[in-house]
Amino acid sequence: MVVVEPSTHHEYSDLRHNDQMPSDELQIRLEAGIPGDMLDFPWELPLMHWPQELLIPLPRGISRHVVRFVDVGGTVMALKEINEELAQREYGLLRDLEELDIPAVHGVGVVTGRRDARGEPLPGMLVTEHLTWSIPYRTVYTRVLSPQTVDRLLDALVLLLARLHLVGFAWYDCSLSNVLFRRDAGAFAAYLVDAETGELHPRLTDGQRNYDLELAHLNIAGGLMDLVAGGRLGAEFDPIAIADEIPKRYERLWEELTEAEHVDGAQRWRIARRVDRLNNLGFDVAELDLRRTPDGVVRIQPKVVDAGYHSRRLLRLVGLDVGENQARRLLNDLDQYCAAARAEGMPTATLATDARTRRSEKSPREDVIAAHRWLSDVYEPVISAVPSHLRTKLQDAEVFHEVLEHRWYMSEAAGQDVGLPEAVDDYVNTVLRKKPDEATLFPMTGDDTGMLELDALGLLERSEDDQ
Ligand SMILES: Nc1ncnc2c1ncn2[C@@H]1O[C@H](COP(=O)(O)OP(=O)(O)OP(=O)(O)O)[C@@H](O)[C@H]1O
Ligand SMILES: [Mg+2]
Repeated sequence: MVVVEPSTHHEYSDLRHNDQMPSDELQIRLEAGIPGDMLDFPWELPLMHWPQELLIPLPRGISRHVVRFVDVGGTVMALKEINEELAQREYGLLRDLEELDIPAVHGVGVVTGRRDARGEPLPGMLVTEHLTWSIPYRTVYTRVLSPQTVDRLLDALVLLLARLHLVGFAWYDCSLSNVLFRRDAGAFAAYLVDAETGELHPRLTDGQRNYDLELAHLNIAGGLMDLVAGGRLGAEFDPIAIADEIPKRYERLWEELTEAEHVDGAQRWRIARRVDRLNNLGFDVAELDLRRTPDGVVRIQPKVVDAGYHSRRLLRLVGLDVGENQARRLLNDLDQYCAAARAEGMPTATLATDARTRRSEKSPREDVIAAHRWLSDVYEPVISAVPSHLRTKLQDAEVFHEVLEHRWYMSEAAGQDVGLPEAVDDYVNTVLRKKPDEATLFPMTGDDTGMLELDALGLLERSEDDQ
């Protein structure tokens, strides 16, 4: 018998603590609202043996478990074949992380009670939504790698680790294969893909954090050495030196996020500067604990919450949900537009800040009308100038960012300001057209783990060479 039940997070929370899971009937439990159904999938076959025509060949990292991508009603889902209890646990953790606003893959459900044709039990499955536009590290690392790219990847990884630690999550398995990267306005944003070994605590001790950091350091050094040994990373890169950057950068970031700072009472501007620095790193400050010692020294202790300072502001203003650096870029353009609009005396209105107002917010008064004009006059025309068959090349916000860069270079070369329509046109024809398709990352044949990424890279490198 088959039970297909839409479920909610809370039911899963209950399930996670219930060891008496019925395993004798196939259960497909997915969050409500998933289009299409998964009943016709050959659950009685080990995932390894599912027919090729069901699978979507997308690149992925190295893993112990079998992971495959399938199409469920037009959405690409990742299936991971894994022991039932672990599937439930990982599902629960992914949902918890999502509630905590951590960038991670979205947990969709769990399949249990699978049996093969002879009635022998098969492992469960964890279902997650494929993270569109994501690039596994092997793909990133085998592109022509500049030291700046390495830098940005490390920063993204360290930021993810610090964000996890801030919310009390010890990962205990941070590795290159367990992170996915998305482009974020010329930088990268890291997403957690494998939560299996993680633990969520109210807060982490220094010991837990340091152990987690040590594991990350070792795993990443190992991963980089494999890439070098396999000839997939240029010989000029020193994997140990790159990996050694992880704890160094992490410590610097952690200190900035959490350490108390002592300033002379006369230097009040340093208090505001600390908040600015945190905002610039993308963090909101919920509380600032200021104490004055009898000798006039002020101790500043920020309580940092929620990364995503810029992306939340953009979401609140114009409803665009994009990466943190993309948001920063879009906000710069938006702010310039609003300033120009103000100078021309356009009508403005104050934003009703029903969304959480932060004390750290420089100005709760936002120019909503001008922001919406920017959306319809600037952002949307750029995006709609991209022909529909090229829309899967790059995420919209990334296209906008690249168009702004392109316009800048064109203006510099021309010695005068080039208009946005002209810049978009030129960008689409000379740059975007030649890019590989990142939404669906290189459809391929053959599905041997390991070989798959090599095929993908072959395709990618060929198309990059064309440029
Ligand atoms: N939702 C997803 N979106 C995109 N890629 C995914 C997704 N889920 C899994 N992958 C890809 O599949 C790979 C393997 O998944 P995962 O790390 O969860 O497996 P694992 O067997 O638990 O790994 P490990 O050996 O580290 O325990 C990942 O490295 C990632 O590239
Ligand atoms: Mg993994």
